[in-house]
Amino acid sequence: MLDVVDLHASYGKSAVLHGMTLHVPRGKLVAVLGRNGVGKTTLVRSIAGLTEPRQGQVIFDGKDVTGQPPHQIARLGMAVMAQGRRVFPSLTVRENLDIGRRAADRGRDGGGIRWSLEDVFAELPVLRERLSIKAERLSGGEQQMLAFARILLRGPRLVLMDEPSEGLSPLRVRELHRIVARLRDTGMTFLLVEQNLPFALDLADHVYLMAKGAVVHESDPESLRADEGVLQRFLSV
Ligand SMILES: Nc1ncnc2c1ncn2[C@@H]1O[C@H](COP(=O)(O)OP(=O)(O)O)[C@@H](O)[C@H]1O
Ligand SMILES: [Mg+2]
Repeated sequence: MLDVVDLHASYGKSAVLHGMTLHVPRGKLVAVLGRNGVGKTTLVRSIAGLTEPRQGQVIFDGKDVTGQPPHQIARLGMAVMAQGRRVFPSLTVRENLDIGRRAADRGRDGGGIRWSLEDVFAELPVLRERLSIKAERLSGGEQQMLAFARILLRGPRLVLMDEPSEGLSPLRVRELHRIVARLRDTGMTFLLVEQNLPFALDLADHVYLMAKGAVVHESDPESLRADEGVLQRFLSV
């Protein structure tokens, strides 16, 4: 579904990605783990067209999308759940969902399963209860669910998630885990960027460890869990 080949990216003169290569098979969840500042967000942004790569390729479902504008890549069925705040704070939950739905209608479909509002409420009942409340008044976990709902309405085939568990309560992390696992089982493909090791290892089919803009380790999650040397060296756990 996604092949990132020798990707380089910089901000001005400062190089951040030094040849990232990774592979995300269809219907799988691949995690990229790494400490703060190693370039995880830059990787996500370079894949989605939000940052222009210096060198290398991004192949999405067999198509070279390197350097294409983000809206065009999104239209092909790639969605990004950005790090940090992901909703329009001064709009209500209903308005946030409407924007998600209209964006979906404009983009036509990215080839994935588009959820109806009813599907979304069945999975995330808290949103129905909060429809007329401004998004800024939701808890962090609820805002995260709202961001997720907007992605489901669009029906992407590949979802890039940048530290989705950051700042969530243990209860919300479990809820997020349940939803992502279910979606993966329906065939949705994920690239998950995380610092939260247990969350990522529980979900992932395959893991990459990143340091200073390059892959330093790649394995199945069980092997990484058992490799204390690598964990200590690259994640300080
Ligand atoms: N917009 C930017 N301009 C300049 N430097 C940036 C910018 N965004 C990130 N960086 C730098 O690039 C490096 C990687 O950042 P980032 O991709 O956000 O890492 P991570 O997501 O792993 O924490 C850091 O040293 C950061 O300071
Ligand atoms: Mg980041």
